[in-house]
Amino acid sequence: MGIVLDRPVDMHLHLRQGEMLKDVIPWSSRQFAGGVVMPNLTPPVDSGEKVDKYREEIEEALNGEAFKPLMTLFMRNYTYRELKEWRSKIFSIKLYPAGITTNSEAGVKKLEEIYPVLEIMEELKIPLSVHGETNGFVMEREREFAPIYLKLAKDFPNLPIIMEHISTIELVDLLEKAPNLYATITLHHLLFTLDDVVGGKLNPHFFCKPILKTPKDREALQNVVKSGHPKVMFGSDSAPHPLGGKLRGSAGVFSAPVILPLLTLFFRGDVATFQKFVSSNARENFKLNLPTKKVKIVEEQWQVPYIVGEVIPLLAGKILPFRIKNSK
Ligand code: NCD
Ligand code: ZN
Repeated sequence: MGIVLDRPVDMHLHLRQGEMLKDVIPWSSRQFAGGVVMPNLTPPVDSGEKVDKYREEIEEALNGEAFKPLMTLFMRNYTYRELKEWRSKIFSIKLYPAGITTNSEAGVKKLEEIYPVLEIMEELKIPLSVHGETNGFVMEREREFAPIYLKLAKDFPNLPIIMEHISTIELVDLLEKAPNLYATITLHHLLFTLDDVVGGKLNPHFFCKPILKTPKDREALQNVVKSGHPKVMFGSDSAPHPLGGKLRGSAGVFSAPVILPLLTLFFRGDVATFQKFVSSNARENFKLNLPTKKVKIVEEQWQVPYIVGEVIPLLAGKILPFRIKNSK
């Protein structure tokens, strides 16, 4: 008994480096056949050499587990020659507006500055991943970015643009407004709201960018995910920070340990839609080549660890009714 998923893939993942990488990666590699690895290290991953070095570090930390790291480059003014050479090493290029989230100080200040790069990406068929927030009021940052997404999609009609970790009803609606706009949705934006961050006791482990939104926004996310929308893909944005950093205000939810057990609860036996959301949609949209891997989830009580290395996971210490078979 249980659910078996074919090649689940996490389309937005922070793995960090060093000891933290070693601590957190088993939680992703046990549940997924691959993941899109974010480039916001210090310094950012912004060359083919840095991609190679980071991928090697990840592969070493994987310890033989079948998991394909889909690497990304941090947006800067790349030349045609660079991108042509590095095309085969990367899945996408990640655009962070400058200063908008963790380690994004080197991000883009004016979108027009990167139009030449976007032209090259369009030609070389390199998808653009976007952290779509302005520097406005925290609850409105993503909604305010909607016209920018639309303009990008219209100016570069052959460029696949992934709206990362969408959290508002307005961005769900954008999916119908341009064929080249795709979206990833996280576990925490799908299941929780701002109430979980500040509605009772302040909970820093739910604090992330974009901030969790209203019940109405969450409902729109839930509906589009349940509809099996082909352009909607799972991307956890699992973003570990050491406890000390969290208490100093770092944004990021470390959700990796609980992803498939909680999504199993969310889909309530609709395995076909579950499979689309966590795998087939992404594989079809982006022709991903992932290792053969089946992941089994069984109905068996499991306690979320209180701490993983120095990181407190989402729902630490809670008892969940489902677990990954063979998981620790
Ligand atoms: C991410 C991180 O910690 O790297 N934080 C977050 O709140 N999501 C960065 C990001 O994806 O915005
Ligand atoms: Zn992220």
